Amino acid sequence: MKSMSVVCIVAIVAFITYQLGVLESPPFVYNDTFLGGRELLAIVATTRERNIGQHVERLVVGSKKGIEVLEGGTGMLKAAAKLYDVDDKAPAVSTGVYFDDPFEVEYPRWAIGWAVEGPSFEKLQAMLPEIQEASELSDPIKVIRIGGVGTETFTARIPWRNIFTPMIAPMLHWGRGFQIYQEYIEIHKELDKGVPAIALEVYVYSENENTKEFIDYTVLFGDVANTWEDTFPGSLGEGENATEESAGVPGSVNTATE
Ligand SMILES: *[C@@H]1O[C@H](CO)[C@@H](O)[C@H](O)[C@H]1NC(C)=O
Ligand SMILES: *[C@@H]1O[C@H](CO)[C@@H](O)[C@H](O)[C@H]1NC(C)=O
Repeated sequence: MKSMSVVCIVAIVAFITYQLGVLESPPFVYNDTFLGGRELLAIVATTRERNIGQHVERLVVGSKKGIEVLEGGTGMLKAAAKLYDVDDKAPAVSTGVYFDDPFEVEYPRWAIGWAVEGPSFEKLQAMLPEIQEASELSDPIKVIRIGGVGTETFTARIPWRNIFTPMIAPMLHWGRGFQIYQEYIEIHKELDKGVPAIALEVYVYSENENTKEFIDYTVLFGDVANTWEDTFPGSLGEGENATEESAGVPGSVNTATE
């Protein structure tokens, strides 16, 4: 009897550990490009809210509403998923970009939204007023370019287990990712263009849109000025708000619990 309950407890602990992904440590793999050098376009709501976890859902939902109101909007989401994904089942991929470490910066810069493919960067910019209105968000919505020539990456693919995955995974993995990047840039000093690295999270959805397949955590570095300038214009210039060394590590979604 006694040994039975021990087996039971071990099984339960193993199950919970698996569900939380605590023992998983997918490697951050280096790539000298992002998507082979292509730019991924995304429509994102930008914010400097401190409690990231309290705002993610609202911004994900609002920005999607804004895109879906466009003619062909659903097709743009699907085409971007196809461009990003390894198979072509995903209906959409959402993107989070984090520019500051929320543990170090009082009002971190971050943005969240959806990858889109089809219209040009300029055409999408012209659609922004319509998107903003339909989103019902007051957070400024922007079109941003992610990647392109000269962007290098370290990526870890985090398996989706359950709704806790996006809350726990940042604490488990982002520190590792940025450490690997720091070690790499120490050795390859010539690659440091003085533009701080960005933390990119890409959520790949399942055919059934309510669940996700996996999340890619990517440290974007090298030539990433386009993403900086599109999302928070002026950040890289001189002046009080110019960024010095605020490279990314987005913290836990649980910063909400303060
Ligand atoms: C780098 O990315 C390209 C394009 O996505 C891919 O084809 C290639 O296999 C990747 N290389 C490595 C080492 O993962
Ligand atoms: C710096 O950022 C703050 C907050 O976003 C803004 O109010 C201020 O105008 C910015 N200052 C400059 C010089 O850009």
